[in-house]
Amino acid sequence: MGLRLTVSDIWKTYNGDAVLKGCSFPFDSSGIYVLMGPNGCGKSTFLRICCLLEEYDKGEINYFLDNNMLEKDIGLRRRISLVLPKIGVFNTTVYKNVEYGLKIRGMTGKETEEKVDRALDFVGLYHKKKHNALTLSSGEIQRLGIARAFVIEPEMLFLDEPTASIDQKNTEIIEDIILKMKREGRSIVVITTHDKSQAEKLADRILIMKNGSIIDTNS
Ligand SMILES: Nc1ncnc2c1ncn2[C@@H]1O[C@H](COP(=O)(O)OP(=O)(O)O)[C@@H](O)[C@H]1O
Ligand SMILES: [Mg+2]
Repeated sequence: MGLRLTVSDIWKTYNGDAVLKGCSFPFDSSGIYVLMGPNGCGKSTFLRICCLLEEYDKGEINYFLDNNMLEKDIGLRRRISLVLPKIGVFNTTVYKNVEYGLKIRGMTGKETEEKVDRALDFVGLYHKKKHNALTLSSGEIQRLGIARAFVIEPEMLFLDEPTASIDQKNTEIIEDIILKMKREGRSIVVITTHDKSQAEKLADRILIMKNGSIIDTNS
């Protein structure tokens, strides 16, 4: 059994407005969870909280590995990755943009190169590895963001509206990458989207955020 996440009764208020009002959900088996809900309902806030990037007012976020609860430390953070709807790129090659995450983890040499090449191949950007990342199209930049997350082999991957502002062709490529990632197997992927057909295409389970809480449509 791999990394699991239990979200229990999370509340979050911004400037007096409650956005999350008791969100609970167990992310306890590998596969793709799709979180849907209207603009502004709190999906991105929920993902940031799950990734330990934002404080919350009440409730608990707990990660487990083989029934042991993990400390919320740098070791845990390195098992998790969040891809934002609009990623920022560094003014350097596509290759170096992906290599960065491994370098800051102290990885060097042949193993790094193999991992980066594989991640670029995975998202169909291997042929652009020597190009400057700033020359990529928005769809390619989004794929680069996925490669950057993929290269560190996260056990839990969060994708916040991964196809929100890109064309149909790149949307389909990204959907195929996500399905391919699922076939590789062991990780839990959580995706937010507005697109019902995308949710149906990708999801093992569809969750709906409504009135600040999470509804599991499968139960
Ligand atoms: N850092 C923040 N400061 C103040 N308000 C915020 C912040 N982040 C989100 N909000 C507000 O919280 C609500 C939910 O936002 P968000 O989580 O981005 O929703 P979604 O991703 O579902 O569109 C919105 O009303 C938004 O304006
Ligand atoms: Mg959002």
